[in-house]
Amino acid sequence: MECRICSGRLRPFADFGRQPVSDAFVAPGDPGPEFFFHLAVGVCADCSMVQLLEEVPREKMFHDGYPYLSSGSAVMREHFAGVAERLLATELTGPDPFVVELGCNDGTMLKTIAEAGVRHLGVEPSGGVGRRAAARGVRVREGFFEAAAAAGILAEDGPADVVYAANTLCHIPYMDSILRGVDTLLRPGGVLVFEDPYLGDIVARASFDQIYDEHFYFFCATSVRAMARRHGFELVDVERLPVHGGEVRYTLARQGARTPGPAVARLLAEEEAARLTEPATLRAFASRVAANRDSLVALLEGLRDEGARVCGYGATAKSATVLNYCGIGPDLVPFICDTTPAKQGRLTPGSHIPVREPGAFADPYPDYALLLAWNHAEEIMAKETAFREAGGTWILYVPEVHLMGA
Ligand code: SAH
Ligand code: TYD
Ligand code: ZN
Repeated sequence: MECRICSGRLRPFADFGRQPVSDAFVAPGDPGPEFFFHLAVGVCADCSMVQLLEEVPREKMFHDGYPYLSSGSAVMREHFAGVAERLLATELTGPDPFVVELGCNDGTMLKTIAEAGVRHLGVEPSGGVGRRAAARGVRVREGFFEAAAAAGILAEDGPADVVYAANTLCHIPYMDSILRGVDTLLRPGGVLVFEDPYLGDIVARASFDQIYDEHFYFFCATSVRAMARRHGFELVDVERLPVHGGEVRYTLARQGARTPGPAVARLLAEEEAARLTEPATLRAFASRVAANRDSLVALLEGLRDEGARVCGYGATAKSATVLNYCGIGPDLVPFICDTTPAKQGRLTPGSHIPVREPGAFADPYPDYALLLAWNHAEEIMAKETAFREAGGTWILYVPEVHLMGA
């Protein structure tokens, strides 16, 4: 097995077995069979990039029916409005600035840029969500970003001041083509800004459900700096973000174009002190994950046996790993409620738990709710205070299995 960044040797450290495409919710009339792949993770002995061992073909994940909507969380809507305001104030201040977003989804970030009248383009292969962005006044190019697409955008729109991507670069195994494309598209002093789940937080919180088909890479400052250098870029800034269970925003500029800020050296030193990318650390993470799986299954089986009513909250892509790795089906979690229209009335991939509309949660409240969207815990618990007031108890499994009751 070879590293997708540098062709170095991969050392496997965690195995989640046979897994479905995480966002492939099964419709009642779907002919099947479902597509499965082997979900396992390794770390490169040379460049230290943590990555999946098997790649799912991109068309199986990102297509017209891709259900995920960036706008599904109020906290994330606020986060992306803040991102846009900051880009407008810092990087998009020249005479006729131009920003390209990779994976713009339903336009949650670019909407603010469009409203400011700034030139922009969202690149989005999933047609359904891309049309939602267009309906909000965002300019969208349908298709996958890669080196060839970058040349097309440059020819049509000229160079970009910023290429921005949230929760998208980590989804793309073909990073060589992406970074060549960014190099083609960026003006000489331009920057690539991207934010993705942070390996440091995943390991610290044992948040193993960040590992699924769409999340191919698990970035940290150490591996991103090495990746950047292979393509003539330098890591010039890093910023830790509280969203999605802990992310880092990385800023890359062409080598020599900008002086790296002090946060870069700090995070690199922190990662080294924690031995973050060493196989022993990652194997210890895998052991904690296996122990958490056993306690989650034991808890849910106990609740079933005593006749408690349980449901799931948030049919996340992340939950595919939890449900399929733990063998949790409708016997343990009879349904999951979720706000996403394209998931409702369908079954979770592989585990076949029905997804219902949010109103099903309170009709009547269950005794226990398994919080599968734990990364939105604050937002959800603030919205659902009546659940605990009615005697309900949340079940969380990050950083370990624990209950939050009245
Ligand atoms: N940026 C949004 C969406 C993240 S989901 C947010 O943070 O909420 C990842 C998105 O990346 C999906 O909408 C998917 O269709 C898109 N995507 C996947 N591969 C891509 C590629 N090669 N180029 C551009 N977008 C891509
Ligand atoms: P998210 O954790 O953002 O991402 P992923 O699918 O990549 O793991 O998904 C949140 C899911 O939870 C999404 O399907 C919408 C749903 N959701 C609710 O049902 N209610 C809520 O209040 C929030 C914030 C999310
Ligand atoms: Zn490597």
